[in-house]
Amino acid sequence: MLAVYPGSFDPITLGHLDVIERGCRLFDRVVVAVLRNPNKTPLFTVAERMEQIRQATSHLPNLEVDSFDGLTVNYAKMRQAKVLLRGLRVLSDFELELQMAHTNKTLSNHVETLFLATSTEYGFLSSSLVKEIARFGGTIDHFVPRHVALDIYRCYAKTQPVSAPIVDSPIQEQPPMAPVEETSLDQGI
Ligand code: PNS
Repeated sequence: MLAVYPGSFDPITLGHLDVIERGCRLFDRVVVAVLRNPNKTPLFTVAERMEQIRQATSHLPNLEVDSFDGLTVNYAKMRQAKVLLRGLRVLSDFELELQMAHTNKTLSNHVETLFLATSTEYGFLSSSLVKEIARFGGTIDHFVPRHVALDIYRCYAKTQPVSAPIVDSPIQEQPPMAPVEETSLDQGI
């Protein structure tokens, strides 16, 4: 059975990777589908995000990376997938995820949404959080694959992350940077 794991993945986190790896054990084939969203200003282009995901998942033979626009259920139908895979972190995710699942069910009765509970160590993790930490000079190496961390540091013109918390130090002036989008749909998982 084929499952589609849709999302923004801007960028992929270790939480996403956890869901992908577990999904690949449950399904014959998993397609990570990156949404081309005209309403968001992402940090990475769709092509960059797809490449980041490909590198992070090269050990998974039954994983495919693709992009789509429009409705997720239409993409799932086009791929003849009966399952949409989503990760659930905390209770606050549940409301929006349930709304999306119900909405998708009204759009297509043939596509089921299946939730995987995020592993506890990633319960707090989101792409937005990772970007915010990096933007203000924090270390993100434990949140994202190494190549993704390097991409993010590069985006914020940083070569060296701050590895230890700074106590009683004045806040460093940050260079101008690309805006980080904030929308209620940015679940990060
Ligand atoms: O990673 P995200 O941003 O939480 O993923 C959200 C996503 C891409 C799954 C959701 O926004 C989506 O499905 N967008 C496509 C448009 C759509 O199908 N809308 C109707 C269902 S809410």
